[in-house]
Amino acid sequence: MGSSRAIVVTDLRKTYRTPFQRKKVEALRGVTFEVERGHIFGFVGPNGAGKTTTIRTLMGLIRPTSGSAELLGAPIPSRAARAKVGFLPESPYFYDYLTVTELCDLAGRLFGMPAPARAARAKLLIERVGLGDARNQNLKKYSKGMLQRAGLAQALMNDPELVVLDEPMSGLDPIGRKEVRDLILELRDQGKTVFFSTHILSDVEAITDRVAIIARGQLQAAGTPSELVAKTVLGVDVAVRLPAQVDAAELTAGADRVRRVGDELSLVLPGDTDVDAWLVRAHGAGAKVISVAPRHETLESLFLREVAGAQRGSGGADNGGPERSKAENT
Ligand SMILES: Nc1ncnc2c1ncn2[C@@H]1O[C@H](COP(=O)(O)OP(=O)(O)OP(=O)(O)O)[C@@H](O)[C@H]1O
Ligand SMILES: [Mg+2]
Repeated sequence: MGSSRAIVVTDLRKTYRTPFQRKKVEALRGVTFEVERGHIFGFVGPNGAGKTTTIRTLMGLIRPTSGSAELLGAPIPSRAARAKVGFLPESPYFYDYLTVTELCDLAGRLFGMPAPARAARAKLLIERVGLGDARNQNLKKYSKGMLQRAGLAQALMNDPELVVLDEPMSGLDPIGRKEVRDLILELRDQGKTVFFSTHILSDVEAITDRVAIIARGQLQAAGTPSELVAKTVLGVDVAVRLPAQVDAAELTAGADRVRRVGDELSLVLPGDTDVDAWLVRAHGAGAKVISVAPRHETLESLFLREVAGAQRGSGGADNGGPERSKAENT
């Protein structure tokens, strides 16, 4: 288990066959990625993209149609590896009549922890997720955010090396989301690997080391958040001071949003412009530079573009994705 990769996924495919409708759903269509140990990895995609299918496959809950995966150096399914993984399922179904203390105790039992260790660990984690005051309440009295935090506490009972969280921020308000983000950062500081899915881009932009974008069962893009953003400089905003009598035609050719007011010229150069060469020409024409600012794509716009591309590219393949919608307001 000395691999430097916490997760390796190779050409994973999953086709669901629904028994009554004679319909096949290609949920994963050749997904390949790796997660380095010690990283926070964000797995981003819209509803029906294949996030949960990937995660359930990794956790050994469903069998892939083809392809392979490794968790902590061991091919799935591996009991030994699973014992070192903490897992928060997408819609944690908890027994209403349990308390969070009992829920954590149950998780600890599944991992074979002795009773005193279970009690001590549960107490610590329940405090950590901010449920100390509610530890003796039945889970049925919990709000959605509290349930999510209870789910996080039980996922950490076995002090996992790798934490796999399916939509850990879903249903949380901005403060709750920030708390989960802080918890994820704290786990990384403790040397753990965190893999989490989301469709909330600001969450991955803020805390992840790497991001993969999935849509319609295929990865659309992967990299560090800044790599993904830098991949496409949309254009360069330039402003120069140029004597009013100088003809600017040579400088404005091919540019967008050209404005000339008095001796000030502002424009947007296309993303692939050689900006240095343009500035040399501008200087030659007697211009003085006021500002040069690349317009970067945000992850949000990249996501929308990649997802739109995947939808166009799918050529109408029948993949029940978008039809299934979830009433989530995030
Ligand atoms: N058990 C199942 N039987 C049939 N089809 C399924 C099953 N589970 C998922 N699917 C389909 O597989 C595709 C991928 O679903 P999946 O749940 O993996 O997406 P997701 O990215 O987790 O979406 P969400 O953001 O809504 O949680 C969808 O088209 C979904 O309808
Ligand atoms: Mg899901």
